[in-house]
Amino acid sequence: MAYEQTLLIVKPDGVSRGLVGEILQRVERKGYTIQKIQGMHISRELAEKHYAEHKGKPFYDDLIEYITEGLSVLAVIGGENAIESVRVVMGPTDPLEATPGSIRGAYATSVTHNLVHGSDSSESAAREISLFFPE
Ligand code: RTP
Ligand code: MG
Repeated sequence: MAYEQTLLIVKPDGVSRGLVGEILQRVERKGYTIQKIQGMHISRELAEKHYAEHKGKPFYDDLIEYITEGLSVLAVIGGENAIESVRVVMGPTDPLEATPGSIRGAYATSVTHNLVHGSDSSESAAREISLFFPE
């Protein structure tokens, strides 16, 4: 067991569909704490840094277009094993593989428009938190 921080993003479809409260409530009810939170229309420059690992993949252009298309809500989430556990609460990348008990399984239909992001490792979490919360 380890105390961790992770970056959660409610992506633009989650904000425009009014799912911010629902998504954050699921994370809080699991047992995690919202330590920092902000609304941000993510710029292309920040999006390209955030998703640098995917540059060159077939879905990259759609991904950058999607994450920059409107307002997102970004939060630093803290608690025991927060990195892996928040991804379990989110469900797998492809909503078709996600169970209805997960955020993506309950509310998403598209592998591209899949509502949420969660850091996938301690290295990613540290990098992403300092990218979006540089203070
Ligand atoms: P995220 O980084 O957003 O938390 O998602 P993830 O770890 O579950 O998935 P990842 O492999 O990192 O993919 C990043 C985002 O790219 C879009 N994607 N589209 N069309 C496709 O096959 C495809 N694959 C990935 C999704 O928006 C995914 O969340
Ligand atoms: Mg990822």
